[in-house]
Amino acid sequence: MSQPIRVAVEDGIAVITVDNPPVNAISAAMRRGLLEITRRIAPDPGIKAVVLYCAGRTFIAGADISEFAGTMALPLLRNVLVEFEQLPQPVVVALHGTALGGGVELALAGHYRIAEQGTRLGFPEITLGVVPGAVGTQRLPRLIGAAKALNMFFDGRPVSATEARELGLVDDVFTGDPREAGIAFARQLLAAGKGARRVRDMTVTPLTEAEIAAFRTQGAKQHRGMITPELDIAAVRASWELPFERGQAFEEALSDGSLGTPESKAMRHLFFAERRVADVPGVSEADKPRTISSCGVIGSGTMGGGIAMAFANADIAVRLLDVDQAALDRGLATIRKNYEVSVKRGKMTPADIEKRMGLITPTTKYEDFADVDLAIEAVFEDMALKKKIFTELDRVMKPGAILATNTSTLDINQIGAATKRPGDVVGLHFFSPANVMRLLEIVRTDRTSKDVLATSFALAKKLKKIGVLSKVSYGFIGNRMMDPYAREAERLALEGADPKEVDGALEDFGMAMGILAVFDMAGVDVGVKARRANPDHVPKDDPTFYRASQVLFDQNWLGQKTGKGYYRYEAGSRERLRHDEALKLLADEGRKLGVARSGEISRQEIVERCVFAMINEGAKLLEEGVALRPGDIDVVYTSGYGFPRRRGGPMFYADQIGLDTVLAGLEKYAKSGNPRDWQPSKLLRELAQSGGSFTAWAEAQAAK
Ligand SMILES: NC(=O)c1ccc[n+]([C@@H]2O[C@H](COP(=O)([O-])OP(=O)(O)OC[C@H]3O[C@@H](n4cnc5c(N)ncnc54)[C@H](O)[C@@H]3O)[C@@H](O)[C@H]2O)c1
Repeated sequence: MSQPIRVAVEDGIAVITVDNPPVNAISAAMRRGLLEITRRIAPDPGIKAVVLYCAGRTFIAGADISEFAGTMALPLLRNVLVEFEQLPQPVVVALHGTALGGGVELALAGHYRIAEQGTRLGFPEITLGVVPGAVGTQRLPRLIGAAKALNMFFDGRPVSATEARELGLVDDVFTGDPREAGIAFARQLLAAGKGARRVRDMTVTPLTEAEIAAFRTQGAKQHRGMITPELDIAAVRASWELPFERGQAFEEALSDGSLGTPESKAMRHLFFAERRVADVPGVSEADKPRTISSCGVIGSGTMGGGIAMAFANADIAVRLLDVDQAALDRGLATIRKNYEVSVKRGKMTPADIEKRMGLITPTTKYEDFADVDLAIEAVFEDMALKKKIFTELDRVMKPGAILATNTSTLDINQIGAATKRPGDVVGLHFFSPANVMRLLEIVRTDRTSKDVLATSFALAKKLKKIGVLSKVSYGFIGNRMMDPYAREAERLALEGADPKEVDGALEDFGMAMGILAVFDMAGVDVGVKARRANPDHVPKDDPTFYRASQVLFDQNWLGQKTGKGYYRYEAGSRERLRHDEALKLLADEGRKLGVARSGEISRQEIVERCVFAMINEGAKLLEEGVALRPGDIDVVYTSGYGFPRRRGGPMFYADQIGLDTVLAGLEKYAKSGNPRDWQPSKLLRELAQSGGSFTAWAEAQAAK
């Protein structure tokens, strides 16, 4: 194995090569190596200039974040960079690929930076709830100004090489090999008689208090409920208020401290959980994914259209099938309209529309699916219809093709059994809008073969989505946990809680949107109809069960589309206004059913009832093996259901507040509500009583 970092002297130029595949992540050995090299070349009079670049496909794409959890091995990058910056020779850092976090901080300690034209540079620390810790908060404001630096820290998204040059973050943009470009730039410096130029010696123009206040507002909006933006502001402020060394010490305290905040623990948990989802016990490298270079979609409605777009966006050809030309025309018109919105927003060019539309071929004949690698069915939610379609697909599709359904509620085992190749049948549950939402539930039946699962995960990646495995179960992972959560929100409305209070409490907790407002947006009828279509899942002896939506539905108050629902809406506006008539009808119904309460319902009760009910269902999913790991559930909820990332997902959140607290809550609400709804999961009870956690349970499971 090669050294993670090495140096060679060429014609008076010390060329430092970082070589730590695959992404040149910073490691302890690399830090040690850089320090040694720095100390070796600093006093060497034969060395006139220094070039640092990375071998392989990218510059340093960040730190090895597993190091964040324990004590970081010495030397620390921040200290290594102090010496690196002090090199007496001019130091050129040549970037390519993706330079992130510590990678950019290393470049900032160089004296000159050049970037290959495809380079992307950024500080993703905020997405992990941490403050940069290798003096980026002191050097970046010195180099590009405090406002631009804060914007980069807040955004978390990388900028292009051209933007970096405009920002003053890099001195030049090149094409070609970073090593050669670095050496050429160093030669130019020497020829021009230019020497070391240290960022630490630059000065920062202070932001005004008004500018700081504006950043505070921006940070609160961009990262709702998080403390990290505030810490970033404090760190950047030190760049002009304190001399460099003291600023460095101040950043060190803030950055190290940020590793201990609840949001940083939660966000790092998600980082690892997202990497882990595709790891399915029993599925190995030997289960090679099948090639998917073409796809057939059945149904060109809301989901089918979105799914077709997701494939076209990933440059995969799609045949789109519907009952007749009229339905196809409607479907294609909607797809085009959606693409036109993207053009208006500057996210696509008109030429992109034509290219993507060109990848979607409409058809009414199953025979056109004879040579596609994968078919995804997205027709009405009707078992008989789906079985019929799968029989057709089984008839026409080539051997080795995958047959998938986008059903939300139906038993995919039964759908698979309608074919002669149940091993090739899988659920691919997209979320609306399917071309936008990141989550993809991959639903395995009792017979889905392993390579079909491997293919589904590979496909998710290709579509830039995150696939999470679920077993067949009513509602799979996401909707099954949404059910008790929404049930409690509706019941609270029936008990007399103002929808604004229910949604407000949930949004303050961090949910992207309160669930009653979600109902209004999606259509109050959607849930009512789903329950009507699935009577087995509606208890016959509980008249309060989802009664609130039924009350609105009976008035044809279907939400935004009718201007009235849990809220009232003015034409063309989505602003939620108080809907007095609905409040009155809900209160009457609550009284009639004997659940109306006098006095205010606290926000704490609202959040606990909704969220604890959701957590309890999550525990049942783990107990039943529907979800593989608590982390998988957390990924589903943060990537598909607007659960706040800063809380790490429902299961991680439960661990943080303590499973005994959750259990006590379930027992408390069982007394005032329907005890059946609050029956604690066996797993949750056992873990709570033994002082355990979902996290520890998952680790023990993985070790088995
Ligand atoms: N809407 C959502 O948010 C959502 C989310 C996830 C999954 N789903 C599931 O996706 C599926 C489709 O839902 P949708 O909201 O897109 O419905 P939709 O009503 O918008 O679209 C259904 C489409 O299927 C077509 N269709 C009906 N019968 C057909 C047949 N025999 N052959 C070919 N095409 C036929 C219809 O013409 C229509 O274009 C359902 O199974 C639903 O449960 C929906």
